[in-house]
Amino acid sequence: MPTTRSDPGNSGVSSVTLRVNGVDHRIRIDNRTSLLDALRERLGLTGSKKGCDHGQCGACTVLLDGRRVNSCLIFAVTLDEREIRTIEGIADDDSLHPLQQAFLDNDGLQCGYCTSGQICSAVGALAEADRGWPSYVTEDVTEGIASSAALSRAEVSERMSGNLCRCGAYVGIVDAVLQAADTHSDQGRQK
Ligand code: FES
Ligand code: FES
Repeated sequence: MPTTRSDPGNSGVSSVTLRVNGVDHRIRIDNRTSLLDALRERLGLTGSKKGCDHGQCGACTVLLDGRRVNSCLIFAVTLDEREIRTIEGIADDDSLHPLQQAFLDNDGLQCGYCTSGQICSAVGALAEADRGWPSYVTEDVTEGIASSAALSRAEVSERMSGNLCRCGAYVGIVDAVLQAADTHSDQGRQK
């Protein structure tokens, strides 16, 4: 049951439970606080980066109930008990997520500022492809795409186009997502 409560003495402040990487955090926040600011400034999870703070760069991308979102555009107070996953929760204990490993293998970064957003976005993008969701460049949008294993370079570029990289590491980023898509589909076939 939702547990968001307005502070009786201050209508601009609420208590909310943010479930981040499987851990519940009960906090009181100004209703205007973005999820990005709540993560970074209240919970100390600084992996999600602030680039534009206007939904234009993707540096702040996290997963909300498994779908990628720009955390700078969402009010934290609306997310009571929703499942939030940040870059800090992507690895499987001591094992890197296949996308983290792929970014290393393919030099998918230079300064690294955009990287956490790129990786979270790529996790969401592969899940979207596995659901069959088309992109702007999908040949038949009514048919969709078979799975993440069917992603081409053009598909990856289009699906990752909301994540900007000021260093221009795009070639390595696309290579990394394609590598992870292969690993991902291999794992799927083994199930
Ligand atoms: S900081 Fe959120 S999209 Fe740029
Ligand atoms: S690696 Fe520097 S902004 Fe992308």
